[in-house]
Amino acid sequence: MQILKTIEELQSIRKTITSNVGFVPTMGALHDGHISLIKKARAENEIVIVSIFVNPTQFLPGEDLDAYPRKDEADKKICELCKVDYLFMPEISTMYSKEEVSIKAPNKSYILEGLTRPGHFDGVLQVVLKLFGITQPTNAYFGKKDAQQLSLITQMTKDLFLPINIIACEIVRENDGLALSSRNVYLNSNQRQEALLISKSLYSAGALIAKGELDTNIVKNKILEIMKSLDVEYVAIVDREFNEINKIELKNTIILVVARFGNTRLLDNIWL
Ligand code: PAF
Repeated sequence: MQILKTIEELQSIRKTITSNVGFVPTMGALHDGHISLIKKARAENEIVIVSIFVNPTQFLPGEDLDAYPRKDEADKKICELCKVDYLFMPEISTMYSKEEVSIKAPNKSYILEGLTRPGHFDGVLQVVLKLFGITQPTNAYFGKKDAQQLSLITQMTKDLFLPINIIACEIVRENDGLALSSRNVYLNSNQRQEALLISKSLYSAGALIAKGELDTNIVKNKILEIMKSLDVEYVAIVDREFNEINKIELKNTIILVVARFGNTRLLDNIWL
């Protein structure tokens, strides 16, 4: 595996590659969720590029940019073990200049995650577009856990006619159901235990729907009842385009939940 720090190095290597390139963009602190994306990229492409870049433009003032977990040495080992070909680890000054063209995410980036984090998705799309420009992947891999991010990146790729396949990858969970997240390390043991109510509520919603309940209010209430002891930020039931819906449509519905544990926000969802 080659570790690259500059855009010039990566671009000159990219020019020599004629086979499929699978790309996994990350902010590091790699866990089994990222590893599953990398393994899928490895299985489906001749060349695999992973990036690790804690992107400042997607953090709002007062968010956890400085405290965001950084585990460069462990991450390098994981990428090596996963047989990544190129690991791109740029500095902030390499990725951003003072004044530049910026991407504006569509209005639906201001609902759900964007309601409490306005502008977050502008930063996500900005950096992902830059990374796509540098790596020019054939296939790019994103987790379904960040469902709204995945939807906006898919839309950007379509709207800007980028010749890249966006591959949606399944959520990876601990054995007890907790969705993997780099932020889980912030939870104390009580919070970790309480957080299990999130996946439990989603599974119960899934079971209710499987029995034939398609009314979103009834399903939402069931979720809220199970999570009543938690500080729930939102429960939303949307279609794949992120429009709120009243009736669940099988194969076109996502149920999303966000709850807070102290300063830590955990998000989870299920796709029906
Ligand atoms: O999902 C993430 O880790 C980030 O939002 C991404 C896509 C790497 C952009 O910084």
